Amino acid sequence: MEKIVINGGAPLYGEVAINGAKNAALPILLASILTRDKCVIEHLPAISDVALALEILRSMGAGIKMLTRTSVEIDATHVRGGIVPYELVSKMRGSSYLIGAELGRFGAAHVGWPGGCDFGVRPIDQHIKGFEAMGAKIDIENGYIVASAPDGLRGGQVYFDCVTVGATINIMIAAVLAKGNTVIDNAAREPHIVDLANFLNTCGAKITGAGTGVIRISGVERLHGCTYTIIPDMIEAGTYMAAVAATGGKVRITNVIPKHLEIISAKLEEMGALIEEEDETITISSTGDLRRANIKTLPYPGFPTDMHPQMSAVLCCAKGTSIVSEGVWENRFRYVDELMKMGADISVDGRTATIQGVERLSGAPVRAVDLRAGAAMIIAGLAAEGRTEISGIGSIERGYDDIVGKLKALGANIKTIYCSDENELREAQ
Ligand code: EPZ
Repeated sequence: MEKIVINGGAPLYGEVAINGAKNAALPILLASILTRDKCVIEHLPAISDVALALEILRSMGAGIKMLTRTSVEIDATHVRGGIVPYELVSKMRGSSYLIGAELGRFGAAHVGWPGGCDFGVRPIDQHIKGFEAMGAKIDIENGYIVASAPDGLRGGQVYFDCVTVGATINIMIAAVLAKGNTVIDNAAREPHIVDLANFLNTCGAKITGAGTGVIRISGVERLHGCTYTIIPDMIEAGTYMAAVAATGGKVRITNVIPKHLEIISAKLEEMGALIEEEDETITISSTGDLRRANIKTLPYPGFPTDMHPQMSAVLCCAKGTSIVSEGVWENRFRYVDELMKMGADISVDGRTATIQGVERLSGAPVRAVDLRAGAAMIIAGLAAEGRTEISGIGSIERGYDDIVGKLKALGANIKTIYCSDENELREAQ
């Protein structure tokens, strides 16, 4: 078993480069089966969800050639439809995009129910609503989503009941090769939606309106291959910004798009951090003494839900009482128990957490209950007094490329250890 071990208290100084966005990479990689030409995707994060997406493509018959640690050539010429192994697709939510991609290429899809972090119920009714608006028939059989459009998909109009990233992505992927025009109303506006649209348009698709609430897709006959570079990961960048705010120090964060981070920067400045922006860089400095703040997560351009646990970890030691309201997920508070083991004073009522700032957290053995909760444990451990051991770090590796190495380079006392059992600890790095 692996653990991350942190001896807290060190401020962070130096420079860190941000990788490509996980939530852009997954749809772009899976959508690459829409063309029989080769695609080269650059600036991928080296994370386990990307490795899993490539394994899924390989299992479908795609040729996968890693060109560098962060770029891959995908040859989908011989990709075949059919059942994608349950044990693969059930490991992440992003595999749901295979439904749109297989429907788009083959007119049929047979995909295991998608997995992903546990935030309570994670329905796919809006995905189904969109596919049915395009003439597909959807059944749920033995834990699989079975979709068919024997005459191929036709353009349709869908008005989502709620803003949903996944369904917006899935319908966009399915619509690019459909016969006719598709309109997605009440669409999600996240930067990774725009990145996917840019990738598909680079392959010859005709998509307009990505990044707004109405996306229009005119179906085309075929897509050609392309070379595409993934946008920087705003949540990875925000996570490092939160870490510096909590520990104190000064860090230059490179390869970012400051516009995507505006609401995170504004909130951290409200709490007392100082932030300077350049074209592709943000420099954040903090004394570590922060003011309380309120956070309400909403779909983009609102405060990102994927920064919620990390910000709660920062607010644990901010002076005063903070309120964090989760506006997207049914239950994203499973990290709270773990922070309480470190001395945090948090109470949760429904979708709202009330955080009373304490002087310092104390290191403790905690679990990474999901991806962003794991990042929150790291931030709390960096700022805490004493030793924190984080288990369940596989969930962290799903979405952060070398977070231990990057933080160590910024002066953190952090390492990964392998424990064959509780007694035997061998230092990994
Ligand atoms: C994506 O999940 C992200 N995952 C999540 O990031 C992120 O939290 C979420 O979008 C919101 O930004 C990936 O991109 C792989 P949704 P997704 O569909 O697509 C409801 C991370 O940490 N809903 O936007 O599953 C749903 O229950 C991960 O990187 C329906 O009701 O999220 C939720 O309340 C965690 N019916 C809300 O919409 C549907 O058919 C938003 O879900 C679909 C969604």
